[in-house]
Amino acid sequence: MGFETIDEGFLRRRAALKWTPWPEDVIPLSVADIDFRTPREIKEGIIRALDEDRTPYGAYSGDPDVLEVVCEKLNRVNRIPATVEDVHMVPGTMFGIFVACYHTLRPGDEALICPAPIYPPFIENIENAHAVPVFNSVDFSHNLSLDLDDLKRQITPRTRLLMVCNPHNPTGRVLSGEELEAVGQIAQENDLFVFVDELYEDMILDGEHLSLASLSPDLFQRTLTVFGFSKAFGIPGFRIAYIVNRGKHMREIRKRIHGMIVHTDTLAQAAAKAALIHGDAWLSAFRSHLKRMRDYTLKRLGKIDGVWCPKPQATPFVFPNVSSYGMTSQQIVDYLKKEARVIVQSGSDFGPHGEGHLRINFATALSVLKEAFDRIEGALVKLS
Ligand SMILES: Cc1ncc(COP(=O)(O)O)c(C=O)c1O
Repeated sequence: MGFETIDEGFLRRRAALKWTPWPEDVIPLSVADIDFRTPREIKEGIIRALDEDRTPYGAYSGDPDVLEVVCEKLNRVNRIPATVEDVHMVPGTMFGIFVACYHTLRPGDEALICPAPIYPPFIENIENAHAVPVFNSVDFSHNLSLDLDDLKRQITPRTRLLMVCNPHNPTGRVLSGEELEAVGQIAQENDLFVFVDELYEDMILDGEHLSLASLSPDLFQRTLTVFGFSKAFGIPGFRIAYIVNRGKHMREIRKRIHGMIVHTDTLAQAAAKAALIHGDAWLSAFRSHLKRMRDYTLKRLGKIDGVWCPKPQATPFVFPNVSSYGMTSQQIVDYLKKEARVIVQSGSDFGPHGEGHLRINFATALSVLKEAFDRIEGALVKLS
């Protein structure tokens, strides 16, 4: 369970999106991988499933033993009163985003994103359905709070889907109980179907995470929630997540998924089961580490003139504002790549409300962050 060092050779060989594209002098703090190896408990779960020869077709929605564990967790942790009929294992959280858009949106519909800026596939999947993304920005001048008046104003007769990300990528905001109640009420008053991405529920660093679908039976029926394993357990390569909803939407979605993929990979499901049953000790050690990395990151950014960074309550991301340098986010990204040999992500990738910001992933070892921020600080000082 060591988080003090990373295995850079392994990452440069294996982490195909985050590390392998870059030469050896480059530090990537961009793609949302964590830099640590698979928890042993998860590997053991997969080995057990291999020994059981889980190779024939499995059950459509998920292996019964896996669904049982998922339901127990949804009831205990999320307070969503799910039974196995309400749950479907899916190949990755991203698939949940796709299914929500595919199920709900028709050409010309609007999908309202709450809050913006947002993880880019939300926008891509809306546009792939020939629908229109509409953005309800966080209030950057008020601690990233939701602008609920704006949310109401943005609803039109064409609004078909309300898409929520909580905890929020890229800002790390965790919505409060009052905010969630208000969002739920707006959805009910306007009879909207809601999608909530709760992938980062296990990366809460301050405060508490609440699930919208837990607030009332009506919200359970009008909300499709996706939960995943890719981030907190660092296993995105296994492509495993699950969706939950009660009633007619789930019945239709279930049919559509069966026609597409039959079911989700049985070994990946075994990884999910092991994470839920045996992952708590690993998770709590990792969260302590992540919190230290968050605090170190904020300390370093706080010392750089011209950078202003809201404090994230969850996720492995900070989303600092760098607009004072008079360059676009992408120009700063290109400059840091060349001058500091550090890769960060442009806020503009997260939609129009992300311009002026950078997204930095701090889920790595302290030594990596120290070197990266020495270089970032040195490069930005030259711009001041
Ligand atoms: C909010 C959000 N949802 C979904 C995903 C994709 O997750 P998965 O790898 O489980 O498909 C990410 C990945 O960064 C994300 O940030």
